[in-house]
Amino acid sequence: MKVAVLISGRGSNLQALIDACQDKAFPAEIVLVLSNKADAQGLDRAVKAGIPTATLNPKNFENRASFDAQMSKTIREAGANFICLAGYMRLLSDDFVRTWRDKLINIHPSLLPLFKGLHVHEQTLESGVRFTGCTVHFVRPAMDEGPILAQAVVPVLPNDTPDTLAERILEQEHRLYPLSLKIIAEERVRISSERVIIDGYQPSQGSLINPAG
Ligand code: GRF
Repeated sequence: MKVAVLISGRGSNLQALIDACQDKAFPAEIVLVLSNKADAQGLDRAVKAGIPTATLNPKNFENRASFDAQMSKTIREAGANFICLAGYMRLLSDDFVRTWRDKLINIHPSLLPLFKGLHVHEQTLESGVRFTGCTVHFVRPAMDEGPILAQAVVPVLPNDTPDTLAERILEQEHRLYPLSLKIIAEERVRISSERVIIDGYQPSQGSLINPAG
């Protein structure tokens, strides 16, 4: 599977994907890192790994549709047949999402469908939930919606700030995203009635309670 990764900034999830793909046995290859910001740190990570990069500046396009059409073109020209959003902070047009339907995934730092959109960690802390986490999902036109592929759970601790919580979740994001890409590339994933079915899935035993006792 040939993958394009779309970024807007730091690119730590991109790095996790790059690291995973460096293993010869990993069934996917990143053929393009595409950014809508010229100063995205993730672009440097791609260059260091010898991966082709492209930057498209929205200001050079008349509207979202023409920008997204150019993105699709650039992605195709790079030979990619699958897209991972990794901190890509621009809304996607319905057309783009339709074009790449079931070939486009995103990672979000909450247990969706809770806490969509921006300021996710603030929303999480304000809600008082004991657990949160991250979600990898197939992208649909509505923001942070679409069939859920994988989730990881992390506890919310009493003294958490948005930053400490983000850091704890990010650690799991970096495990979850490569794992998600792997099972898709192994062709073990299909979508039926907007639910994801994973072949060979082994449910783990037990459950967590927080706080303990
Ligand atoms: C991550 O928390 C991801 O879940 C969200 O944006 C952040 C991107 O971080 N979509 P990075 O650029 O991958 O470091």
